[in-house]
Amino acid sequence: MRRPTRSLLVAAAAAALVLPLCATTAANAEPPGFSHSDKNTLRNQAPRDLAVGSAVWGARDLVDYDPSAPTPFQRVLGAQFSSLTPENDMKWDAIHPAPDVYDFASADALVAFARANHQQVRGHTLLWHSQNPAWVTEASQTWTCAQARDVLEDHIRTVVGHFKGRIYEWDVANEIFQDTWDAGGVRLRTEANPFLKACADEPVSLIGDAFRWAHEADPEAALFLNDYNAEGINEKTDAYYDIAQQLLADGVPLSGFGAQGHLSLLYGFDTSMQANFERFAALGLQVAVTEADVRIPLLPGQTGPTPEQVALQAERYDAMLEACLNVTACRSFTVWGFPDSKSWVPGVFPGEGWATIFEDDFSPKPAFDAMLQSLREATPGISPRRH
Ligand code: XIL
Repeated sequence: MRRPTRSLLVAAAAAALVLPLCATTAANAEPPGFSHSDKNTLRNQAPRDLAVGSAVWGARDLVDYDPSAPTPFQRVLGAQFSSLTPENDMKWDAIHPAPDVYDFASADALVAFARANHQQVRGHTLLWHSQNPAWVTEASQTWTCAQARDVLEDHIRTVVGHFKGRIYEWDVANEIFQDTWDAGGVRLRTEANPFLKACADEPVSLIGDAFRWAHEADPEAALFLNDYNAEGINEKTDAYYDIAQQLLADGVPLSGFGAQGHLSLLYGFDTSMQANFERFAALGLQVAVTEADVRIPLLPGQTGPTPEQVALQAERYDAMLEACLNVTACRSFTVWGFPDSKSWVPGVFPGEGWATIFEDDFSPKPAFDAMLQSLREATPGISPRRH
């Protein structure tokens, strides 16, 4: 009961401030969800201890940010979300393009936008097999483990140090396990990941040190393992559960486990997601949904999703959010960009698309409505959690 009372007061105060301005130019009225004063946004309905984020495809979307004249994308990004993840701009190839060259320009623009809009930033990512610059791929052919460690240590200390105090969660190690269908099954990526390959005799020690270097560079940041196909309890998450225990036993400053949440309507939803989160939480770790999107497959000739597909997409998004809301240790839920025109999905999954929560004109889809409702219900009175 406390929240409605407070909200009414805030709304009344906001209306008193805003109405005289709006009354003069009705044509300037903002669409719902475009302004910080709109109460019905994801960030404003979220429990206080849950950040609701979005990825930003390229910080170049934000480089020319002028707070007095934001683009529609920038307005929705600022109004709806309390956290941002650079979809590409902190990856190795973007931020460390040559051995002695670090380029922070795009990532700095994102951090500046976040600061101006009172948002937190998730860092992504420091140790990964993909989107490494050519110089890493080439040099790694002849690396000894000691050389690989030196390169990784310099990178992590420099990048994490650059953003010290401005990043609340870092995906330190991304996708370090193979899939069941890969040659060799679920095991550490000691072939595809150049750093793990060079240290294939002691990969866990390298992974642990990556977390140690990051922690030394920014002791305040929560440090995550992160992967896809990692929502439910399965062979891959069993491997993560094991390595998390091993790292913690070794005193490694591991803080969390992130499930990316890249789903497709081609497959079912694994209802063990909450139980999976609970087992990591029981180790004392945080959990997070870090890259949520739900792809819709289209049959040949079909020009857009059916109402049933759109409704099922809403269910899937909401199921992931519910798993997070139901576990206290889940502190951030991030969608992997918006609107559909900025989504990575069509380029990577031919025949699938429409994966985000906003239409291209930024009108909300049923997935947005479902999540907003769940966030609203999760904040009755002063108790933000269901348990
Ligand atoms: C994707 C980006 O969305 C694309 O823009 C880019 O071309 C490729 O990478 N798992 C991750 C993310 O951890 O970094 C990936 O992001 C999607 C899968």
